[in-house]
Amino acid sequence: MRILGIESSCDETAVAIVDGDRQILSNQVLSQITEHEEYGGVVPEIAARSHLSHIDRLVKKAMTEAKIDFRDLNGIAATAGPGLIGGVLVGMMTAKGLSIATGLPFIAINHMEGHALTPRLTGTLDFPYLALLISGGHSQFVSITGISKYSILGTSIDDAVGEAFDKTAKLLDLDFPGGPALEKRAKSGDPTRFALPRPMLGRPNCDLSFSGLKTAVRNVVEKHKGHLDNEAISDLAASFQNAVADCLIDRCNKAVEDFRSIHPTGNTFVIGGGVAANEYIRKKLKNCVNDLGLRFVAPPINLCGDNGAMIAWAGIERLRLGLINKLDFPARPRWPLDAPHSGAHS
Ligand code: KG4
Ligand code: ZN
Repeated sequence: MRILGIESSCDETAVAIVDGDRQILSNQVLSQITEHEEYGGVVPEIAARSHLSHIDRLVKKAMTEAKIDFRDLNGIAATAGPGLIGGVLVGMMTAKGLSIATGLPFIAINHMEGHALTPRLTGTLDFPYLALLISGGHSQFVSITGISKYSILGTSIDDAVGEAFDKTAKLLDLDFPGGPALEKRAKSGDPTRFALPRPMLGRPNCDLSFSGLKTAVRNVVEKHKGHLDNEAISDLAASFQNAVADCLIDRCNKAVEDFRSIHPTGNTFVIGGGVAANEYIRKKLKNCVNDLGLRFVAPPINLCGDNGAMIAWAGIERLRLGLINKLDFPARPRWPLDAPHSGAHS
């Protein structure tokens, strides 16, 4: 089994080929960072046009690197949402076009499903497991009992974690993209210097919240009238990151409790999404999860952020179950992971 996967829901144009033995034959990821940098955020129109300019070349490059032609493939998978709709359309229409031209089945993938299943690509992992997905658009705890069997235990009631990192980095005048820049800056900072809030601590559900934390950072910046010295910026970055980790740890405790009440035999906790690349957060979460007696699984750093391999792998998982999609499958800007995988299966 061999699948070509396309991802284009945000600012990475990505194409990969993965086989059923979990070999990544090619993983092409083209970042658009330099195109969005001057705007301090991803501009949807620029993103869509850029995907369009590069996607055909990346498909060719992936096929060449994998040393295969289309007859060696079993299906074409693409992100069908959630994400920036112009970009999603570019990737999905490319996949549908390839499907028509080759006769290979088309498989529509929920982007968050790609993140959620990545640990099954990179290692042995049986269902059920608990996933914490932390990206630029989502923060959620998901109980996963099988393909398309996703139950959201808790979610952010406002900003996603990655969004909070990006907005806070902007307040601190750090480079774009903000998440990695803030992590780098925090390495030389004192995480205890600024007393920032820990939203949602001790709440009886598994929801998360990060906008108050970002506002607290803004208040510190405004109090200093924007004149924070280098040391203070590093300390504020470290204090913010530490507060995020504390919030996630508290919420993990609750999510594990809820997960165990539904699945007493479940023994694995996985993380995924761009923020899962943050080493400080990975370490803190690992300690917390191990203390709770669960196995902690994090994908390698290069498979935390958006990539085509996770989409190809989700395609393999779905194709194995016969879950292919018709060519009228819609592109969806919003698509909760626990909503039905609509568009009838052919
Ligand atoms: O999963 P992803 O690549 O795209 C979405 O699905 O949104 O996640 C991107 C998010 C961005 O907000 C980015 O700043 C954040 O992940 N991110 C990080 C780090 N690397 C990426 N946040 C904190 N620390 C990092 N090292
Ligand atoms: Zn993502």
